[in-house]
Amino acid sequence: MSIIIVHGGIETGTEAPFLEVLREAALSGYRSLARGHLDAAEEAVKILEKCPLFNAGYGSVLNLEGEVEMDASIMDGYSGRFGAVAAIDNVAHPVTIARLVLEETSHVLLAGRGATSFARVKGFPMVNCIAPTMLKAWQKVRDAMGKGAGTGASPFTGLPAQAIDACDTVGCVVSHRGMLAAASSTGGSFLKMPGRVGDTPLPGGGIFASRRCAVVCTGLGEAFVETLTAKYVESLVADGLHPQEAAEKAIIRLTLEKRAAGGMVVVDHQNRYGVAYNSTTFPVALVHDGKIQDNFTPKKMPRYNTCG
Ligand code: GLY
Repeated sequence: MSIIIVHGGIETGTEAPFLEVLREAALSGYRSLARGHLDAAEEAVKILEKCPLFNAGYGSVLNLEGEVEMDASIMDGYSGRFGAVAAIDNVAHPVTIARLVLEETSHVLLAGRGATSFARVKGFPMVNCIAPTMLKAWQKVRDAMGKGAGTGASPFTGLPAQAIDACDTVGCVVSHRGMLAAASSTGGSFLKMPGRVGDTPLPGGGIFASRRCAVVCTGLGEAFVETLTAKYVESLVADGLHPQEAAEKAIIRLTLEKRAAGGMVVVDHQNRYGVAYNSTTFPVALVHDGKIQDNFTPKKMPRYNTCG
C-alpha cells in the first residue's frame, strides 16, 4: 500500500493545466517508488519545479531586487535524516541539491553562495529560473509601488488575487510500505528581501517526517516557523490523532495565533491522510496504490484574505 500526495501551493490555480501537472507529478512519483520513498518525493517535486505555473524552480517569484532565490528540503521519516538548501539561485532543481546535502554531506542545510557552489561542484549547470510571466508581474508591481500604490498582489503569487497563474510552495508526502518521506520547494514570498528564508528548508516549520507522520506546509513561511507547525502536526499524529484532524487543528491554530494563510498535506504510517487550508485555493493530487483519487477534496477552513 502506497500513498503520494502533492500540492501546488495556496492561492494557486485549480484549473485543468494546474491539476494535470499535479497529477503527472504524483503519478511520476509513484512510478519512482521502485527506487525508494525518497526518490518518489524528489521526483514529484522535480516535475513541479520544472513547470512555470508553480512558485518553485523555474517560475519562482522574484524578490525585491528582481532575482530568484529558492529554498527546498527533503526528509526521510525512516532514518530521520534531513537535507535542505536556502536562498540558492540558478539551479533547475533545488530539491535535488537538498537531497545531495542529506546524502553526501554531514550538514543539514546549505545557504546562499555555499548552496549554489555545492550544486556546481556536483555538476549542476547554471539555469535561469526567471520565467517571463514572473518578470512581468514583478515589473508591474514595482512600477505601481513607484507611483505610491500598494502592491495589490498576493505575496504568494506576485499576481492579482483574481488572476492567479502561479503561487506558493510545492510539496509532496509519501507513505510506502510503512516508510514516510516529505519534500518541498519554493521561490519564497514575492518581493521578499534578498536573503530571506522561509519555512520550506526548516525542519519542524514547513516540513517534517518521522516513522509516524510526514507533513509539508505552504503559506506564510514566517508564521509556520514561529509556530513550528509541521512538528506540531507530527506530534498530534504521533499521539494518535487522525492526520485530517491534525491538519485542521493546525490550520485553525495558525489562523488564531498568526492570522496567517496556509495549507498542508499530511500522511501517516497507516496510510491515513489529511489535507486542509484556509486560503482561496489549494490544488492537490493524490495517488493511492497507483491510481489518482479524483473524488478527493482538500478541506477548506475559514478563509483568510492575503491580498496586499
Ligand atoms: N511557504 C514558503 C515561504 O514562505 O517561503
